[in-house]
Amino acid sequence: MVIVLLGPPGAGKGTQCKRVADKYKLVHLSSGDILRSNRKDGTELGKKAAEYMDSGKLVPDQLIIEMMAGAIESAKGNCVLDGFPRTVVQAKELDKALAAKNKKIDAIVNLAVDDSVIENRMTGRRSCPACGAVYHIETLKPKKDGICDKCGEKLVQRADDNPEVVRNRLKTYHEQTAPVAGYYADNGNKIIDIDSERSVDEVTKAVIEKLDTLSAV
Ligand code: AP5
Repeated sequence: MVIVLLGPPGAGKGTQCKRVADKYKLVHLSSGDILRSNRKDGTELGKKAAEYMDSGKLVPDQLIIEMMAGAIESAKGNCVLDGFPRTVVQAKELDKALAAKNKKIDAIVNLAVDDSVIENRMTGRRSCPACGAVYHIETLKPKKDGICDKCGEKLVQRADDNPEVVRNRLKTYHEQTAPVAGYYADNGNKIIDIDSERSVDEVTKAVIEKLDTLSAV
């Protein structure tokens, strides 16, 4: 089963994908996390991706498509996709790759958040470099300040969560990623639109309620 979560930076894709993956026993594949892990390990892909990520631009399609094709293969096609596809080219390649395995996307969820709330979400985000858990300094605090509840690691702030890069990421989203929802709608895919300006738990409830109604899940 393949579920895609779409939405702007800070919409809560990572937060909700982790919960969806737990609920339906799927592998959570975050293109951003895979890229950050490559950077940490100093791989060629990580080195190539760095300058794009730090400026809020998209990493070139070909690099991402190869990276995600491998990840989806490893997950045996049972995954929730977070941050991919992010261009119409990537969406078309994903469709082709799934069709070659007699698979298709089972559900597309679009998390909607107004630009005005995004900067606060991004600059307040803290992440665990060890287990990937995500917190917020106001809305999703860890029990102990600056420490991951799940594994005890010190939380960090992402380098691309500063206001200037966040503005660039939003611009990139509107120009290159927002059209992906239109591509899917034009090709007969039903999009599940979710208001993601509610609390994390309310958004999860709304997403799960919709996914539970789909016979495929
Ligand atoms: P990536 O890591 O994918 O970043 P993003 O899409 O900008 O998304 P984020 O991870 O920032 O936000 P999110 O929607 O997951 O929100 P989260 O749950 O963390 O990509 C980084 C970079 O990698 C890109 O800029 C690009 O360079 C490159 N890249 C990645 N994929 C690519 C691709 N396919 N093609 C090309 N390049 C690619 O939540 C954010 C904060 O808000 C958290 O603190 C959270 O606690 C809080 N929060 C979440 N939900 C709520 C809520 N309902 N109410 C209040 N607070 C909330």
